[in-house]
Amino acid sequence: MAAPRFHELEIAAVRNETPDAVAITFAIPEDSRDAFAFLPGQYLTLRADIGGEDMRRSYSICSPLSEKDRRTVGVKHIENGRFSGFAQKLKKGDRIQVMPPQGRFTVEIGGDHDYLLLAAGSGITPCLSIAKSVLAGEPNSSVTLLYANRNSASVMFLDDLNDLKDRYTTRFTLLHVMDEEVQDVEIMNGRLDAAKLETLASHGLIDPARADAIYICGPEPMIRSASTAMAAMGVNEDRIKFELFTPAPGSAPAPAPKPKAVNGKGPNGAKHGASVDIILDGARRTIRMDAATDTVLTAAQKAGMDLPYSCAGGMCCTCRCRIVEGTATMDENFSLEPWEIEAGFTLSCQARPDTDRLVLDFDAQ
Ligand code: FES
Repeated sequence: MAAPRFHELEIAAVRNETPDAVAITFAIPEDSRDAFAFLPGQYLTLRADIGGEDMRRSYSICSPLSEKDRRTVGVKHIENGRFSGFAQKLKKGDRIQVMPPQGRFTVEIGGDHDYLLLAAGSGITPCLSIAKSVLAGEPNSSVTLLYANRNSASVMFLDDLNDLKDRYTTRFTLLHVMDEEVQDVEIMNGRLDAAKLETLASHGLIDPARADAIYICGPEPMIRSASTAMAAMGVNEDRIKFELFTPAPGSAPAPAPKPKAVNGKGPNGAKHGASVDIILDGARRTIRMDAATDTVLTAAQKAGMDLPYSCAGGMCCTCRCRIVEGTATMDENFSLEPWEIEAGFTLSCQARPDTDRLVLDFDAQ
């Protein structure tokens, strides 16, 4: 399978969701439908030249599976976020580079299930796609969505959520938690943290023990807190999926750290000077790199190569490739499963060679 490549898509609609969030809808041409097939919970990576810099940012799809010719993403403005600031100004008819859907925070539609979705802020976007797709595609399944925001003005996709509530009265439960606005039901006020989840469970408003699958999407502290609460309630970790937001406001690869040399080696014992063969789209190219100053991704970019990547932070797996020869060590890994590491996969945005020669295959999926 070929590595993911960008397509130029036209924006079919832009809708204001909140004062600082928009929903951007892309038209998917007939000949790109296969490439843009998706599973609920996946994201699109957008690419743009902003101030002369090649920037990328991933945004989760909020469309239901039934939507064949459009994909909508939710974009919330981040303070000093160059890409989100750029994206907020996009308008109908603009064209932008978009990578086909990626991500593992997914649901395979089919069967009868109880889903518990925990979302905070713009973490609602993949959860909305999951809720819409499950409710439409699994007639006997139920979805409980617990959605945390500061106040009602910051609730994204409120109309869509209310529509789901009206349409699936017995199978969809929507609970809002707010920490800057007082709601009538006292228990729904405050932060969505471990204590709040335990309180909601003890009052029977959520039932993690009964859920077949629990999806958590939001900022890292919320994910940690929710995961801790689920574990304390006896939920096995194989029933929990989470989507970690990219913490950095920019989307260009973070400059690789410059650690001190230790006995002629870089971080994690990686060799300083290494020859790396990169196989991409059937072609092979060799670069020289210094593991003390670069990851494979940043070294390849310096050599003028256009490798697939998105978050550059070890979270999204877009840069996944297989080690064919040699070994490499990752600085961070938030996304590869143990079996993938066992099978020789690595993340090029995090990988530094341990050996003098390293061969990486980006076509191996
Ligand atoms: S680009 Fe996201 S994990 Fe490497």
